Amino acid sequence: MTNPATTCILAIDQGTTSTRAIAFEVREDGGLHPVALSQIELAQHFPASGWVEHDAAEIWTATLQTCREVIRKAGGVGRFSAIGITNQRETAVVWDAATGEPLHRAIIWQDRRTADVTAGLAAGGHEAEVQAATGLILDPYFSATKFAWLLDAVPGSRERATRREVLLGTIETWLIWKLTGGASHVTDATNASRTSLMDLKDRVWRDDLCGLFRVPRQVLAEIRDCAGLLGTTDPALLGLALPITGSAGDQQAALVGHGALTAGDAKITYGTGAFLVANVGTAPVASTRRLLGTLGYAVGEDAAYALEGSIFSAGAAIQWLRDGVGMIADSRASEAMAQGLKNNGGVYLVPGFTGLGAPWWEPEVRGALIGLTRDSTPAHFVRAGLEALAYQTRDLLDALAADGAPRLKVLKVDGGVTANAFAMQFVADICKVTVERPAFQEMTALGAARLAALGAGLIDDLEPRGDEAPAVWTPLMQPAERERLLGGWRRAVRAAIVAAP
Ligand code: G3P
Repeated sequence: MTNPATTCILAIDQGTTSTRAIAFEVREDGGLHPVALSQIELAQHFPASGWVEHDAAEIWTATLQTCREVIRKAGGVGRFSAIGITNQRETAVVWDAATGEPLHRAIIWQDRRTADVTAGLAAGGHEAEVQAATGLILDPYFSATKFAWLLDAVPGSRERATRREVLLGTIETWLIWKLTGGASHVTDATNASRTSLMDLKDRVWRDDLCGLFRVPRQVLAEIRDCAGLLGTTDPALLGLALPITGSAGDQQAALVGHGALTAGDAKITYGTGAFLVANVGTAPVASTRRLLGTLGYAVGEDAAYALEGSIFSAGAAIQWLRDGVGMIADSRASEAMAQGLKNNGGVYLVPGFTGLGAPWWEPEVRGALIGLTRDSTPAHFVRAGLEALAYQTRDLLDALAADGAPRLKVLKVDGGVTANAFAMQFVADICKVTVERPAFQEMTALGAARLAALGAGLIDDLEPRGDEAPAVWTPLMQPAERERLLGGWRRAVRAAIVAAP
C-alpha cells in the first residue's frame, strides 16, 4: 500500500535492453519498498559484425519519460526526496557541451570494434601494467578504447575535447549531465572503475593510462563516491529541483541491493549478460584467473572491493532462441521445453555471440552448437541455452576459488532468467552451491535507491531491512553426472575457440 506520508526515492535503472524508473518508499525501519514502476524498451543497433550501438538521445528521452510516469503514479514529485542512478556500464557516449546533443551513437559494452586496439596493446606488453593499476584486463569491453574510437570518428572532436566543447562519459555521466541541465559532469567510482583509466586503489584518473589509451584527461568526468550529492535536477524537467544522491554501475548496485556487503558475499545477475560479483573486502585483490578487479561501492571511508566475472551472453542466448531463430514463443516456454527432455542429448550451446568473457576472454570467438544428431530438436537447443547459464557460472566460480576467494555457501541471484526454475536448479546442480533468489527481483534499482537514501541522509547504512523470504534451490545432482556434463561443456568451449576466425 502506498503511504502518502512517507518519502520516496526515484531509482533510474538504465540497462542494455530497457530503461526503467522505480519509486521506492522509505519506511520508518529504513526498509525500501517499491510503489511504482515504468519501463521503456531500448532499440539495439548492429551496424557491423560485432558492433552494437544505442541512441543516447533515445536513452535520455526514455529516462525522462519513465521518471515522469513513475512520479505521477507515486502521487507527485512532492513525495520524492532524492534520485539514485544505476546503469549499463562501460558504454561510451560523446556529446556536444553546447547543444547537449550526442555526436555519435553510443558504443555499448558488448561492442568488439576496438578488439585490434586492445590486442595491439596486449602484444606491446601492456596488460600487466593495466591490470595492476585498474584491475581490468585488456579487452574491448571497457570504455577507454571506445572513448578513443569516438574521438577519432567524430571530425574535430579530439581537438574540441581538449577545450571541453565535447564531453565524454559513461551512461550515468550522460544522464546526470542531462538531468542537471549540463551543470554536473560527474561519474561515480564504480562506473569509473570500468573504463581502464581509473586507479583502482586510489580511485583517481591516471595520466599514464589516459596517454596509453589516447583519451584526453580533461574530457573525463569528475570521479565521486556512490552516495552523496552528485547534482540537482533542472526543475523544468521533473517539476522540482531534486538532488541526485546515489550512483553505481548496475552490477555493483545489485551487490548493494542483495546486501552482499561483507567479504565472501557474492551475487550473480542474469540479464543480457551475466555478472558474478564477489565482495573481497576493503582492499583490491589481483586475480590470477582473468577475473576483473573492480570496486563494489565507495562511500567515504567505507569501500568494498570485488572480483567480477562477466559473461557476455546469458539471457541473450534465450532472446536469440526466441527472436533470432524463433524456437520459442516466449522466454517462459523455455522452462517446459527443457524439462520435457530426459537429458541434453549431448547438445551444447556456447553462446559466444559477442565473444567469450571471463575466464576465457576471447573477443573473436563466436557462438557454437555442438553435438547435434538426427534426434536433436528445438527443445535440445533451448535446453542447451539454459544449461549454458550454469556452465558459464561454474567457470566463474572455479576461477574465483582459484583466486583464493572463500568457497561460497550461497549464491544470490537475480535477473529475468531466474524466473526459470529449470535453469536455477541446474545452476545449483552444476555449481554445487545453494542458489537463493530474493522475493523482490529488482536488486539493481533497489541498490541504487539504497545508495541514494544513504546519500540523502534518510538511512544510516546500506544493510537490507524487512525483506521477504527468498526462493532456494539446493544441489541434487550426482557428482559423476556433474563431471560428465562439465566434460561435454569444456569440449564444446574448446571447439568454439578453435573455430574462431
Ligand atoms: O557491464 C555491462 C553491464 O553493466 C550490463 O548490464 O543488465 O544492462 O545487461 P545489463
